[in-house]
Amino acid sequence: MSFIREGELTFIERFFANILKAGPMPKHVAFIMDGNRRYAQKCHVERQEGHSQGFEKLAETLRWCLNLGIREVTVYAFSIENFKRSKEEVDGLMDLARQKFSRLLEEQCFLNVCFAYTSRHEICNAVREMAWGVEQGLLEPSDVSESLLEKCLYTSNSPDPDLLIRTSGEVRLSDFLLWQTSHSCLVFQSVLWPEYSFWNLCEAILRYQMNSSALQKARASYMDERKRQQMAKDQAYVRKKLQQEGTASHEDPVHQQNLLQQYTAMREERIQAFLQALEQKRVDFLDRLCTASA
Ligand code: IPE
Ligand code: IPE
Ligand code: MG
Repeated sequence: MSFIREGELTFIERFFANILKAGPMPKHVAFIMDGNRRYAQKCHVERQEGHSQGFEKLAETLRWCLNLGIREVTVYAFSIENFKRSKEEVDGLMDLARQKFSRLLEEQCFLNVCFAYTSRHEICNAVREMAWGVEQGLLEPSDVSESLLEKCLYTSNSPDPDLLIRTSGEVRLSDFLLWQTSHSCLVFQSVLWPEYSFWNLCEAILRYQMNSSALQKARASYMDERKRQQMAKDQAYVRKKLQQEGTASHEDPVHQQNLLQQYTAMREERIQAFLQALEQKRVDFLDRLCTASA
């Protein structure tokens, strides 16, 4: 039997899930699963047991998400900062991750696991990748934009989370998805992660629903502004180029429009070639990593 799908919702949970589903539902939910050690202390069990129950809770939460029609989940399982914990704790977490994630990932294609991750490291890496693209002659410095940076993030294949939930009462992001959550609904809940319940998840979704129209509006207005800025940048480039040419045609709007189209098409081609090269670079890196650890 599947690790996640075992067990259905109770009648009352199903009833409430159907009511929730009548409203706007988040398509992508991110979790900062926090509070395992406090839970262990509270229940007088070993720290490793707290982490183990945290992993079990993830399996249960994924089942709830599936039942609620949430197709994509991203979890913060281990931050780069967490390497500073004792060797015993880090080793224990690595063992748990090996055992539990391989099982979860085999069966669910909608789970993104952020392990040994921090958002600033991810953003910095994206900037480095763009610099590499310029160095290789694949990109022009003027191709660097928010939209391109986003495509260099590890999350480029996923839509931004609609809802981000942090448990354990801490009200900070601890360097998680800083770029991707600027238009997400952030919900901080006091429950410790291993005690997370279906009702806690429903409460977070309700909060998303109460704010969803404001979030959609903010996201749409940001996207419009981004497009407007790119267009203004392209037009300025074309005007400058025409002035440099000093030809009589630089006042001709049809000529200007043609040049603008050519310029944007060439930029798009450069970006596609760069993204393909980047993908290949990442595949090669992973291959080398797998060969080295085999
Ligand atoms: C979250 O729980 C799990 C990881 C960071 C791996 P913690 O281990 O941070 O537990 P608390 O927050 O100290 O209770
Ligand atoms: C953040 O939790 C990372 C994970 C939940 C994996 P931490 O408990 O490590 O974060 P801080 O140190 O309290 O900010
Ligand atoms: Mg913590």
